[in-house]
Amino acid sequence: MTTGTFDFAPLLPAGLPPAAARWTGLSTYSFVGGNNDPDQVPLDGLIEAADAVLKREGRTLATYGLASGPQGYRPLREFLVGKLKRDAGISCTADDILIVSGSLQALDLVNHTLLAHGDTVIIEQDTYQGALNRLTRLGVNTVGIPLDGEGMRMDALAAALEELKRKNIQPKYIYTIPTVQNPTGTIMGEQRRLELLKLSEDHGVPIFEDDCYADLIWDGRRPPAIYAMSKRAGVIHIGSFSKSIAPALRVGYIVAPWEVLSRILPLKTDAGSGALEQMVLAEFCAGHFDEHVPKLTRGLRAKLETLMEALAEQFGTAAEFEDPKGGIFLWVKLPDIVDTQILAQASLASGVAINPGPEWSTDKSYSRSRMRLCFASPSHDEIRQGVAALAEVCRREFGVPARIANVEQRSARA
Ligand SMILES: Cc1ncc(COP(=O)(O)O)c(C=O)c1O
Repeated sequence: MTTGTFDFAPLLPAGLPPAAARWTGLSTYSFVGGNNDPDQVPLDGLIEAADAVLKREGRTLATYGLASGPQGYRPLREFLVGKLKRDAGISCTADDILIVSGSLQALDLVNHTLLAHGDTVIIEQDTYQGALNRLTRLGVNTVGIPLDGEGMRMDALAAALEELKRKNIQPKYIYTIPTVQNPTGTIMGEQRRLELLKLSEDHGVPIFEDDCYADLIWDGRRPPAIYAMSKRAGVIHIGSFSKSIAPALRVGYIVAPWEVLSRILPLKTDAGSGALEQMVLAEFCAGHFDEHVPKLTRGLRAKLETLMEALAEQFGTAAEFEDPKGGIFLWVKLPDIVDTQILAQASLASGVAINPGPEWSTDKSYSRSRMRLCFASPSHDEIRQGVAALAEVCRREFGVPARIANVEQRSARA
């Protein structure tokens, strides 16, 4: 009999992602992760909803997919039909919607439906790390389009599409987060959405619209979804309850023409997303979604104010940013001397976690001195203390900011 632990290493196929590091807990001051505000999770409403829906329909849990079929709990899809019509101008039926386990699963499903190794996609230059990493892992080439205050720049997109055409490369999709872009916080206006649709149609490239932050706009006003504006059904739309209710529920959705949905569905091989979450959400959202969201956004806006004030106080003019119209993150530019990947490592040792810009961008030099700060999860006090601690580390590592809290400091590298 042999002794020792079994060696799995020789069995692992080529191409697996690197081994995961063990989770060691959240940092004391965590400005990373798209987490929500714990005080804003509508607990009483969710408890009430769970109680009501389980008493009424709990026995349907005995059936895979409840009694709703493989596309997800029908009352949740019916809620989405009404919500998407009212908020985003999307006309669809429950049959055009697939409920998935968070919009991350939507990204995986759409990618596996459309992409093969060596394909090319167009994305925003600064974009969601989760989308970027997936594409890298699939061996897909990404063409990053720079953004301005209204999101993806159409002149740059037109030029990129022409350039690809000249090289005989047909991109598989244009991925965009048009409504509160991650990480820049921009919102693409209606006119630009029309221009994007025109370019997509002229070049025969579909649009992949990721709208998971669309509920988190301070004044609640959003342009129609690109999906709603498309006359040729060339858009796949995804959304999520992670940002409006809670990410741990893992409930998202895909809206797409049946031609596409019918190819996506066979790839969702988990026999349906968690049913309890869908039931509770449907029950809660039908009666309370509309009153919950403005409360949530008021709380998030207040935290953003605290963050912007803390940055102004601790970094002064060294931290530049636009005041976003919604969302849970701030995209901050520090002086060129600052390398945010080094800053992120150094600040972690002081209990402050930040997202370094290069992990959120296709242009590593443009994003080198930028960082993303998420503000929904830390408390107001943690935001103030965390930004003060970050400024201290930044001054020690880079001599920036020269002044902290209006007290002149001696620069470490001066
Ligand atoms: C742009 C974007 N898309 C998708 C996701 C995934 O969200 P979830 O899987 O929780 O719905 C996130 C999460 O932060 C995101 O920022």
